[in-house]
Amino acid sequence: MLPKISFAKLAAPEKGVAVVFVDDALALGKTAGAIGDGVEALVKRAADAAGFSGKSKSVLDLLAPAGTGLDRLVVIGLGKAGAVSGLGENDWAALGGVAMGAVGRAKAAEMVLETAEGEVAPAMAAAFAMGMKLRAYTFDRYKTRKDDEDKPKTAAKVTLATGDTKAAKKAWADADAVSDGTLLARDLVNEPANVLTTLEFAKRASELAGLGVEIEVLDEKAMKKLKMDALLGVAQGSDSPPRMVIMRWNGGKKDAAPVAFVGKGVVFDTGGISIKPAASMEDMKGDMGGAAAVTGLMHALAARKAKVNAIGVIGLVENMPDGKAQRPGDIVTAMSGATIEIINTDAEGRLVLADALWYTQDRFKPAFMINLATLTGAVLIALGSQHAGIFSNDDELAGRLADAGLATEERVWRLPLSAEYDKLIDTPNADMKNTGGRLAGSITAAQFLQRFVNDVPWVHIDVAGTAMSSPKTDISKTWASGYGVRLLDRLVRDHYEG
Ligand code: BES
Ligand code: MN
Ligand code: ZN
Repeated sequence: MLPKISFAKLAAPEKGVAVVFVDDALALGKTAGAIGDGVEALVKRAADAAGFSGKSKSVLDLLAPAGTGLDRLVVIGLGKAGAVSGLGENDWAALGGVAMGAVGRAKAAEMVLETAEGEVAPAMAAAFAMGMKLRAYTFDRYKTRKDDEDKPKTAAKVTLATGDTKAAKKAWADADAVSDGTLLARDLVNEPANVLTTLEFAKRASELAGLGVEIEVLDEKAMKKLKMDALLGVAQGSDSPPRMVIMRWNGGKKDAAPVAFVGKGVVFDTGGISIKPAASMEDMKGDMGGAAAVTGLMHALAARKAKVNAIGVIGLVENMPDGKAQRPGDIVTAMSGATIEIINTDAEGRLVLADALWYTQDRFKPAFMINLATLTGAVLIALGSQHAGIFSNDDELAGRLADAGLATEERVWRLPLSAEYDKLIDTPNADMKNTGGRLAGSITAAQFLQRFVNDVPWVHIDVAGTAMSSPKTDISKTWASGYGVRLLDRLVRDHYEG
């Protein structure tokens, strides 16, 4: 359950669970110091007894501290005294996560956003709240046993006491929109493929209409008419019909070229006739992580009324083997007119994106085009889960994305494109083949995509390592991370609004 978050003026909490902060000199903020006579001495004594040193993100939990009316006093470390005012948004987001974890199942908690160096700035308070919300997210809707120990519970109600309450609330309105977009992406990725079919995904994306997003859904017939045979070939072995959803947020100047985001939405990837081994195949329910990020981003932009024209396009298919499935050796013609020899039906994401990218640049003439896809296992081998791989034809856009990655800790690392790699997907039988062999697998996949991108500045983000099977962090505790929403929201906010 997500906590209900509200803001209040700085005041010393008198009852319930209080959360306060100390640096490594164990100095409390002014307001926390007023909780009770000798509270600072009490914290020092307890810290001494528990070996708590105020190290960043460490927790000291005091039960019914003497001399106060509180049930619990949770003290959270901020690290080096004197350096606390230098903490950034990511630090405060992580601290929000830690605080949320520390209050646990309390009904209500009051957190005093002040340090020995003064009030926590509004932007940091918003980041803190975002960290709390992202941390509180669980995916437990299929756990039916009420008192199941595995079922995490978090505080129902959290009050954040801040100096400038009005400014903090305002910053939180935007950060809350981005949090919701991130959680939408997590929900979509966590959801199993028997529930999140192509049609169900299209339906959930269509719900963004409630935020003022214009929605169009292309069905099989419409895509046939557009000659999207690369995408359609992937879908033909499944009972779930393919869909393409186009989401438009018109928050910018009337005639300004839109920015465009394109997502791979393979709701389940068995590999098709080139079927995958059984081990970990269940992870392929997350093979729509790119489409989930695009949908979550569109939610975020619309919910915070971003001053930008943005297009989100997601290609929704299921890659299944059956009597109608695509075979290795088949040759299909993409919307662009280019022919593709299918060598491996498990290299399906690039086929979906080939038509989705072509369609997007052709119809919308975007200022830039960024696609996200759980495209290759090879990117996991190269970069693990710590960075997504990016590929680009535009140094400026790639650089801005790298900066947004550092700012949000949704990091990216650029890998090369070149004519030499491009050659690896040539074939005597068609214009290109859909795999480039064992070596440089992430790069040859990107070269394939680039063959469907014309002059528009473009970045491909391979999120196979970052969207799912995610490492647990202070602000992310489920299998799906929601990777990409905060990254791209930041890119838009820093460079393409107004
Ligand atoms: N969806 C997979 C990539 C993937 C692997 C995503 C692991 C997340 C975790 C993609 O469709 C795929 O199967 N790629 C193949 C390409 C190969 C056949 C050229 C791969 O990476 O092995
Ligand atoms: Mn595949
Ligand atoms: Zn796939």
